[in-house]
Amino acid sequence: MSEALLEIRDLNMHFPIKGGVFQKTKKHVKAVNGVNLSVNKGETLGIVGESGCGKSTLARTIVGLQKPTSGDILFEGESILHYSHKEMHQLRRNIQMVYQDPYTSLNPRMKAGDIIGAPLKAYRMTNNLERRVKELMDLVGLKADDYHKLPHQFSGGQRQRIGIARAIALNPKLLILDEPVSALDVSVQAQVINLLEDLQKELNLTYVFIAHDLSVIKHTADKVGVMYLGKVMEISDSESFYNNARHPYTNALLSAIPLPDPEKERMRERIVLSGELPSPANPPTGCVFHTRCPFAQENCKTNTPLLEAKDANDGHLVSCFYPLNTEKKQLIPE
Ligand SMILES: Nc1ncnc2c1ncn2[C@@H]1O[C@H](COP(=O)(O)OP(=O)(O)O)[C@@H](O)[C@H]1O
Ligand SMILES: [Mg+2]
Repeated sequence: MSEALLEIRDLNMHFPIKGGVFQKTKKHVKAVNGVNLSVNKGETLGIVGESGCGKSTLARTIVGLQKPTSGDILFEGESILHYSHKEMHQLRRNIQMVYQDPYTSLNPRMKAGDIIGAPLKAYRMTNNLERRVKELMDLVGLKADDYHKLPHQFSGGQRQRIGIARAIALNPKLLILDEPVSALDVSVQAQVINLLEDLQKELNLTYVFIAHDLSVIKHTADKVGVMYLGKVMEISDSESFYNNARHPYTNALLSAIPLPDPEKERMRERIVLSGELPSPANPPTGCVFHTRCPFAQENCKTNTPLLEAKDANDGHLVSCFYPLNTEKKQLIPE
């Protein structure tokens, strides 16, 4: 069961910035900068990173809303970047997206039932439309009489349920979840995450679950990748990721998750990153993280580390010349 459903190879998405009197391209925002990833069938790949690191750009490129600058995207082993309009239309049934903000991603003038049924209409699957929509509403925990309500009559969590029902309407194979719970109250987040987990099992879905902090995907992701300024810094299966994180950036992110045990929480050291997040229009040379890394050496400023396995060939990949080991983690400065 280790068949890749989605593979991303050396993907770049660089946006031109124009300036000056002649509106010439001055620079590029390297929103996604050489990303390699793969997701197996039935798995959840969690992607984490600070705001602006390129997560949504990656998501939009995967679902075909943006054409990448270079690289390749394979779905079920086939490159999708040169698909015809018709092939793309068919592919979209299989790759659907859930957006971060359930307030702006739903048309305020459309009834819930029509929003959920819209993809079915677009694909002319209108036989028993109302019955299918009610079945979807039931699957995501909405009531049948919610059918005729408008988005503003729902709570944030319910609105995200509408977005999820719309995303699964066409029986897709892959869902790209772009911070699906970030806009929700903490108490509601867990309910929506549980719903997504149940649906995954029931409908045999594969997820790319984007989050901006690690605690959201801690229990959901089978594999976790960390992005920083358009690049993947570390990626591995969840167990190895949480027990043996090697990248200084990952360790900084992990040290920000509060521990449930107050004693341990008091004892542990928190890694506070110095300096500001650089702009992706002007990323640092060498390792992009060197300007904020407590362990950076001279060569980190000029040489770019590859994303590669450090010890065993276990698929735990790290992009760092000086990955942390257990002793070093204890020396992490405050
Ligand atoms: N269409 C665009 N044109 C120019 N810059 C963009 C565009 N979309 C995103 N960006 C820039 O790319 C970077 C990554 O953005 P985004 O993918 O939205 O990050 P995230 O989702 O991780 O917060 C940001 O600096 C953003 O301003
Ligand atoms: Mg985003």
